[in-house]
Amino acid sequence: MKPKVLVTREVFDEVLEYLAKSFEVTSNQSDVPFNPETLAIKLSDKQGALITLSDKIDATLLSHCPKLKAVCNIAVGYNNIDLDACTKVKVMATNTPGVLDDTTGDFTWALILAAARRVNEAETYLRNGQWDGWKLKQFLGLDVHHATLGIFGLGRIGQVVARRAIGFEMKVIYHDVQQAAPEIEQACRASFVSEEELLRQADIVTIHVPYSTATHHLIGKQELERMKPTAILINASRGGVVDDSALIEALRKGTIAGAGLDVFENEPKLNPGFLELKNVVLAPHIASSSKATRYNMAMLAAKNLVAALTGKKPPNLLNPD
Ligand code: 8YV
Repeated sequence: MKPKVLVTREVFDEVLEYLAKSFEVTSNQSDVPFNPETLAIKLSDKQGALITLSDKIDATLLSHCPKLKAVCNIAVGYNNIDLDACTKVKVMATNTPGVLDDTTGDFTWALILAAARRVNEAETYLRNGQWDGWKLKQFLGLDVHHATLGIFGLGRIGQVVARRAIGFEMKVIYHDVQQAAPEIEQACRASFVSEEELLRQADIVTIHVPYSTATHHLIGKQELERMKPTAILINASRGGVVDDSALIEALRKGTIAGAGLDVFENEPKLNPGFLELKNVVLAPHIASSSKATRYNMAMLAAKNLVAALTGKKPPNLLNPD
């Protein structure tokens, strides 16, 4: 008998075909996220699951799933998984690092350029039929070239963003819990600064840290007040790293000039304050969403699941040894 697994959200057919070689697969191709109760029921007889950020794996859920041995996230971030709770009941948890770095880095640049050069605001103006002719002072933006880019978190994705900045001839500064190795700093042409220096010096602040209690509201009222009034804030990491209410207030008052956001607190709900602002570019958590990358993420998660349930060490195991 093949082990039973659940695929909690829609994935590519090839991923289902790959999983079907090893497992009896139940999949949610209708793609409506399960609420916690339904997820617990669906997982109660399963040995493994391919999950996403919309599935919360915590002690309560695990207590309903005695057969569960592995939960494989289709994401690099895993703040939807209580890793300690999984480890306690010997459930393996995995993520998908590496395969989405370049694509997420590219999208960060889409947000930087759109926010700095006010692309969405200008397009809305055009679409609304408001353009009555060229004006010297129309949609004056922020120059990206030769500006100072401040990166919070010089991990895999932060490094991609930094390397792309070389083409824009920018000065790159970064802050992290630990200073990066000299060869990484060199490849990124990035200098380590304190959090306060980063906020004070950067024209563009971009965040690439994981979400945890330590990074909750890393950027709040006080941090926004330290930024230049001409600066923009970019977040393609996780909602909750930025205090959305404080950001809305700062954008409203002109404490900072603009923002580009792919992630929000309480996704998929959006703080309605954002919708009233022109100086923010908004995206629905799509930074990793190229066809090739989403395919690679789902396939990597599936490979982790096959390894976990066939007695091998999954390539991206998160639990401590
Ligand atoms: C995912 C992400 O699309 O990998 C991550 O951490 O934020 C995105 O790339 C999303 O989390 C789906 O689970």
